[in-house]
Amino acid sequence: MSDFDLVLDRRGSNSAKWDRYAGTDILPMWVADMDFKVPQQIIDAISERTAHGIFGYDSAPIELKEVITARLEILYDWEVAIEEIVFLPGIVAGLNQACRCLVGPDESVITATPVYSPFLSAPENWKRKLHRIPCNNAQGTWSFPVEQMAASMAENTEIRLLLLCNPFNPIGRLLDAGELSNTVEICHENNVWICSDEIHCELVLDDKRHIPTATISREAEELTITMMAPTKTFNLAGLGGSFAVIKNPGLREKFVRGGKGMTSRLTTFSYISMLVAYRDCEPWRKDLLRYLQANRDYLAKRIDAIAGISMSPVEATYLAWLDVSMLKLDDAMAFFEAAGVGLSDGPQFDGQGYMRLNFACPMETLVEACDRIENAVNNLSNTAGK
Ligand SMILES: Cc1ncc(COP(=O)(O)O)c(C=O)c1O
Repeated sequence: MSDFDLVLDRRGSNSAKWDRYAGTDILPMWVADMDFKVPQQIIDAISERTAHGIFGYDSAPIELKEVITARLEILYDWEVAIEEIVFLPGIVAGLNQACRCLVGPDESVITATPVYSPFLSAPENWKRKLHRIPCNNAQGTWSFPVEQMAASMAENTEIRLLLLCNPFNPIGRLLDAGELSNTVEICHENNVWICSDEIHCELVLDDKRHIPTATISREAEELTITMMAPTKTFNLAGLGGSFAVIKNPGLREKFVRGGKGMTSRLTTFSYISMLVAYRDCEPWRKDLLRYLQANRDYLAKRIDAIAGISMSPVEATYLAWLDVSMLKLDDAMAFFEAAGVGLSDGPQFDGQGYMRLNFACPMETLVEACDRIENAVNNLSNTAGK
């Protein structure tokens, strides 16, 4: 039995994930945080800092910048200078900052759908038009719609920014070198900046290798703002803390100026947790990936045996994208809640007929969730054949 097997009670801890279903028996498997305790080294470092008892303004630790640059070099063979790192309180704040300061009022943003919902709301928050390009779907296997994007950029010459999600929440894809280089090429041809949200980059399964968009070519380096964070990987969303890598000095200046006085500082605990996660917790991450892979495989097998639901292959993230359209449900969210499982509703990602399931939980919880889903679907009289 591993630490990841421990079923921990998160009720009463002000957890958004668990509070939604407070007082019910519904298993929350929606928002993207994990039901696992963070590495002990992080808990210890926070306890030690708490005991100090003074919480004034922090400066960004030099050691953290050095740890980040060393990590980017080790994981992606990517040479980044310390001054190319810009800390952000969160990636959603960064997405909004990019829409606000890189896109003028008469210009627009483009993204591929289905996608993490702040990609859809960030342009709208700043009254920037958004072009939504559906991903290609070949029987549940998704690919990036490069050709359709190129056509849209050619037609809508006011497009100035691509919001790119890789690894791709919710469809679980890890974009490959071909998809990325074709995407960079069309952005280069059409003067489109790229904001590449790579928050899930350390949650890549099956020993596959993540490729940061900015490393694809010289053009990619010039065009791209890369956003990364330890918060998904090490379960630190409540503490917050992320960073952008911006190689192009002009782009960096524009982006940083756009956030001045708006984007809040990082907290004492963001800096500490980021540093310890990246510096000391690699064995924990490796164990986590093994656990998530086993959960993913178990879930895929169980879903495959349920008539009327299918699951896209998950190459990265701990999120499964389920096609439930064959069940012909009037209200899919309510159906699964009635079954005792709280999922994320597809339409929030622009994915009608789909649900997203977060499998970052102890296996015991996942087994129970699968049993509940299977029973509910089997009891449906209108289930279509597989
Ligand atoms: C693709 C993606 N970007 C950003 C976030 C959230 O980032 P943050 O909490 O740093 O704003 C999430 C959370 O699920 C995500 O999936």
